Amino acid sequence: MVLYQIYPRSFADADGDGTGDLQGVIDRAGHLERLGVDGVWLSPIMRSPGVDHGYDVSDPRDVDPLFGDVGTLRRLVERLHASGMVLIMDLVPNHTSIEHAWFAAALAAGPGSPERARYIFRDGRGADGSAPPTNWPSVFGGPAWTRVTEPDGSAGQWYLHLFAPEQPDLNWSNGEVADDLERTLRFWLDLGVDGFRIDVAHGLAKPETLEDLPEGVEIAQLVVDERDARWDRPGVHDVHRRIRRVVDEYPGAATFGEVWVGPVERFARYVRPDELHFAFHFALTGAPFEAAAIRDAVESTLEASRIADSTPTWALSNHDVVREVTRYGNGAIGTARARAMLLVELALPGIAFVYNGAELGLPSDFRVPRDRLTDPTWERTGHAELGRDHCRVPLPWAGSAPPYGFTTAEDTWLPQPRGWGRLTAREQSVDPDSTLSLYREAIRIRHSWPGTTVPAVTWLDTFDGCLLFCREDGGVLCMINTSRHAVPVPDGDVVLASGPLDGTRLPPDTAVWLQ
Ligand code: GLC
Repeated sequence: MVLYQIYPRSFADADGDGTGDLQGVIDRAGHLERLGVDGVWLSPIMRSPGVDHGYDVSDPRDVDPLFGDVGTLRRLVERLHASGMVLIMDLVPNHTSIEHAWFAAALAAGPGSPERARYIFRDGRGADGSAPPTNWPSVFGGPAWTRVTEPDGSAGQWYLHLFAPEQPDLNWSNGEVADDLERTLRFWLDLGVDGFRIDVAHGLAKPETLEDLPEGVEIAQLVVDERDARWDRPGVHDVHRRIRRVVDEYPGAATFGEVWVGPVERFARYVRPDELHFAFHFALTGAPFEAAAIRDAVESTLEASRIADSTPTWALSNHDVVREVTRYGNGAIGTARARAMLLVELALPGIAFVYNGAELGLPSDFRVPRDRLTDPTWERTGHAELGRDHCRVPLPWAGSAPPYGFTTAEDTWLPQPRGWGRLTAREQSVDPDSTLSLYREAIRIRHSWPGTTVPAVTWLDTFDGCLLFCREDGGVLCMINTSRHAVPVPDGDVVLASGPLDGTRLPPDTAVWLQ
């Protein structure tokens, strides 16, 4: 199975406001059909003030007017289903927006109230409570606590937000929180969606007593240190069991958890038979373009799946990380390597994710003008970190200058760079050597294999700096060359190559499929 992640603001705009929307996805469904993907994971489209672009939800059972309405979503589901594709929604159960009715009620009701008990409010430290309850940092920079003003105007309690202050963490020990999520699950499942990607699936449960993190805990964004009490608490598994019970009432529906947990044994707990159906293992998004590192990343993902007897998942990028073309070196080399890694990803057993724009070989754009940056990280880190706008620039569809057919507006919500004319879907559609053509061909061939989910590959001996492996079902032999020298291609028919071969030799930064 190959699933395509749509970042709705950036995919296609139908209503001409410069921001992508659901009708834009419906209008471009042909692109997904020609790509040959089996379905879509749609980043959040619920009602939201958009501080973290939908990951700050103010009403989890409505569609934000920026993207359309519930009717548009229903039409999108029908459109995808008509082509045999599934739709996976994004759910954000760790936190709400500060504009959620619950948060307004919590502020108004004051300390000790049942309204506050839905979130994580604490008194501050020090005689006047002016120091945060713990030393916890927020993922987006600065402290993970913000002090509120009480209804009587006095300086008051603090609330926890592992992300932006506009994203208060919910209290998952409170039964109302789970009951409400159950309503949300049923709302969308009844509407016909096929499952959920679950945001921050490893962060939902918090320790009973909140204590300072020890010195030296690695707090880099989206990396999990085992001593970091903010993540991966035992109670999180009860939440996933409850979600599973609801989702299992809907045959065929599935959950995909965002689980940034490094140690494979701990990761594997999330995909036990009564918890998440699948979990994202992010090893490949962090691996440099080196044979040994790629093999380690593949092995750790397979190992995690073997422990829990679950299906492995693979992604080269998503809306939170640097696009693969840029990670691997940008320009012709970055593109060649990203193409080679696509053949590695699609040769692996299990479920492969493609982040929108990867099929066009888009780079991350670090030249977004500073006054146009929108990721909360930019302000929260005092402009020390740019944030993730670089990988969210709207897609180029056609034409030689911005907005490249993305919108009828003059400007797009994040400006697009000049020079993407040769990367548009229209240009690449008619070029058999384009990255888009490679994606279409690779996905088509992959679908001709039996489609194994067995978490194993066989590694065969090969040259230094190269990897050679096949799946258990023997579907294909994949070889990648990360060294600086061309090497002989093993015997067999070349089914697909990520770039031109040098006679019978595999050049650097290239991969082949052999049969
Ligand atoms: C997840 C999302 C990310 C979001 C964060 C907070 O990591 O992938 O985009 O900012 O959760 O919801």
